[in-house]
Amino acid sequence: MNPQRLALLFIAGLVLAGCGRSSQGQLRVGFAQIGSESGWRAAETNVAKQEAAKRHVDLSISDAQQRQENEIRAIRAFIAQRVDAILLAPVVSTGWDGVLEEAKAAKIPVVLLDRQIETGKPDLYLSSVAADSVHEGEIAGDWLVGKVGSKPCNVLELQGTLGASVATDRKKGFEQAIAKAPNVKIVRTQSGDFTRSTAKQVMESFIKAEQGRPICAVFAHNDDMMIGAIQAMEEAGLKPGQDILTVSIDGVPDIFKAMTDGKANATVELTPDMAGPALDLLTAYKTKGQVPPKWVKTESRLYLPDTAKAEYERRKALY
Ligand code: AHR
Repeated sequence: MNPQRLALLFIAGLVLAGCGRSSQGQLRVGFAQIGSESGWRAAETNVAKQEAAKRHVDLSISDAQQRQENEIRAIRAFIAQRVDAILLAPVVSTGWDGVLEEAKAAKIPVVLLDRQIETGKPDLYLSSVAADSVHEGEIAGDWLVGKVGSKPCNVLELQGTLGASVATDRKKGFEQAIAKAPNVKIVRTQSGDFTRSTAKQVMESFIKAEQGRPICAVFAHNDDMMIGAIQAMEEAGLKPGQDILTVSIDGVPDIFKAMTDGKANATVELTPDMAGPALDLLTAYKTKGQVPPKWVKTESRLYLPDTAKAEYERRKALY
């Protein structure tokens, strides 16, 4: 057989090997995951594996290393394998229509996890499991406004990945909350891309630019960025959690540890269990034709140092 034909047969074999239900009749689901930019993201991936195993779902996870083009490539590969459903954590909110049209044409339902997309065609995805990120930002802002009272408060903001729904919405919610207090103002804002290392560098440049002016608070769109910011503040001889208030989002063990050590003040929890509810609604949809709500909203809750030690102990094994 000529080598070209042999190669074609090999590719066809790979695609067919991935077709339809698994040999055990399990649901086969592909998860286009963003990457592992934060502790929260790594936990979401771990929890997804655990929740899939509990439900005997055959879950394949692809890591896009925070690049949309890699996520699009992964979705195309899942379509070629004819999985039963696709989970997508969209790194940014725009640019999904083309590939979601392809999934729709292949009759493969897509469920969004932890972030939303912007589309004029909402029927391109079945449902989304995510928190209300505007509300998360509001909780953070309300806490800060209550904490500072009438004192003037200059805030430094570390945004998440630009173009991600969670970054846009957390910023919006925070701004709405502090708009009620004219004494609380964001004086610098920049993206730290949801990572510790980038946020640390951004914080270092903020501190330099402030030239010793008093910094009242830091709002970071996730805990990992706050951990990076805490390192930068300490290296500059500042006292986060005492002289500078901190509020961030996620609820990862490291932020509870920082609270226990008196270096952080507040976090808004984002549950890492997005896959469990998504797999349940997919199963109900596939087996009973039950159409899920368009948005399954997860709870957002504020945590403060009083419960930090217990929360750290409770969560450390999961992350
Ligand atoms: O989309 C959820 C956000 O993505 C988390 O808050 C952040 O840690 C992650 O990278």
